[in-house]
Amino acid sequence: MINPESNPILVLDFGAQYSKLIARRVREANVFSLILPFNASLDEIKKHKPAGIILSGGPASVHAPGAPKCDPRVFELGIPILGICYGAQLMAQELGGKVEPATKREFGIAHLDHRDTTGLLSGMDARAQVWMSHGDLVTKIPAGFDVFGTTDNCPFAAFANPAAKMYALQFHPEVVHTPQGRLVYRNFAHAICGHDASWTMGEFAQLAIEGVRAKVGKKRVLCGLSGGVDSSVAAVLIHRAIADQLTCVFVNNGLLRKGEAELVQKVFRGNFNINLVYVDAEKRFLDELAGVTEPEAKRKIIGRLFVEIFEEEATKLGHMDFLAQGTLYPDVIESVSATGGPSVTIKSHHNVGGLPEKMNMQLLEPLRELFKDEVRALGRELGLPDDIVWRHPFPGPGLGVRCVGAITKERLETLREADAIFIDEIVRAGLYRDIWQALVVLLPVRSVGVQGDERTYEEVCSLRAVTSEDAMTADWFRFPPEVLARVSTRICNEVRHINRVMYDVTSKPPATIEWE
Ligand code: XMP
Repeated sequence: MINPESNPILVLDFGAQYSKLIARRVREANVFSLILPFNASLDEIKKHKPAGIILSGGPASVHAPGAPKCDPRVFELGIPILGICYGAQLMAQELGGKVEPATKREFGIAHLDHRDTTGLLSGMDARAQVWMSHGDLVTKIPAGFDVFGTTDNCPFAAFANPAAKMYALQFHPEVVHTPQGRLVYRNFAHAICGHDASWTMGEFAQLAIEGVRAKVGKKRVLCGLSGGVDSSVAAVLIHRAIADQLTCVFVNNGLLRKGEAELVQKVFRGNFNINLVYVDAEKRFLDELAGVTEPEAKRKIIGRLFVEIFEEEATKLGHMDFLAQGTLYPDVIESVSATGGPSVTIKSHHNVGGLPEKMNMQLLEPLRELFKDEVRALGRELGLPDDIVWRHPFPGPGLGVRCVGAITKERLETLREADAIFIDEIVRAGLYRDIWQALVVLLPVRSVGVQGDERTYEEVCSLRAVTSEDAMTADWFRFPPEVLARVSTRICNEVRHINRVMYDVTSKPPATIEWE
């Protein structure tokens, strides 16, 4: 999708947990970056016309049998290369230096003393905090290289051969524990690779729109809208490119949050004038879910019905050539295994099952190259309202997996009201963007209460709010107590069937973010 002429910086991934972070840091310096597996062929690398190459860290030792190595001709391309940790060791070893096991594994914060003349560390303090994580050490640097930074345990923490445009750092500038590390990627991208810092969301949007136009031509595109940020941004982007050749389908499964169906219709039909098929399938979902309490059974029913309904609508619309999806970059990056074998796990968001194959549609995934925060920036660039751009994630099975126990229209209504109050108070307290996801769960228990001198016997709800980077792990959010107090008071006063409010203080693991 990106214009290949824009000369990305390539990150060759040696299996580091930080490879994605490196790619992000480069993009934060307004230079487009792509991650390739370490064993990408020379042709593949050259095809991208990279302005520079970064060799990532990795868990292996360069001496291990089958240790991951890039094509050695990478070092002869004359393109600036930056090796980080394992990448630095590999560079040293491949170019005639020496790498040996350290007597003491170094893991954690260290202090780098440097006298940088290369420009790579420009702006960093002469003694700067850095993050180290390595078992091997470079003990001899290759001919032509000079050392320009050391730490107490690491005599060759920064070394380079500027004439050959090769730079190596034993520490990790991409992590937050290297507080001035962003400067390293900025310096590498601009001063060393000579990149003109042109990669902005505006530019990306323009190129992506042209890319969609070129790919789709006069054909037709179907897009399932969920109201979440990814599908919303994808839809608006595609609409900019091909206008009425796009049709969106939004299925109201009766398990949506308060006002969600209205918001989606208002924004996409009203603001953007997008062809939108709105399907009210509430009854169909609730009929099939009646009496079902087992979480997996609920999920299966909801998933199956969604695909059925989506397919019915697609059939009514006549042949569609493409199915648009909001797949993001973290889902498509090939992950390399620690042992160096090119094991490839590509996960695709097939929310609509095998529909593309069954209906002979191609996939259109205009966000494939973006990280989540970049999708948000793109959404803002395209004029989507903050309500959608900053929306917390919402699971496909919706309130169905937050209405623990039996799902009824009345219980869903109770949950929807409580959820709306919780989110409203979070927004009022200015905390919405500090929280990854906030939700209310209706529990399958009742409790005794007293309201206006009357005994009540009503439902109990639990609030859940978590911080997270990627939803793989999460911690419960520390609310100021007065916010929780306001939420609790309002829910008990305003939501008819709830008389008790709990706050869930469990992290993930051991709990998941959703309850079911
Ligand atoms: P858990 O509950 O497993 O959820 O900690 C992790 C993240 O994924 C979301 N989630 C889903 N998203 N379809 C989705 O699109 C689903 O079936 C689904 N289940 C959970 C959840 O809300 C959280 O952000």
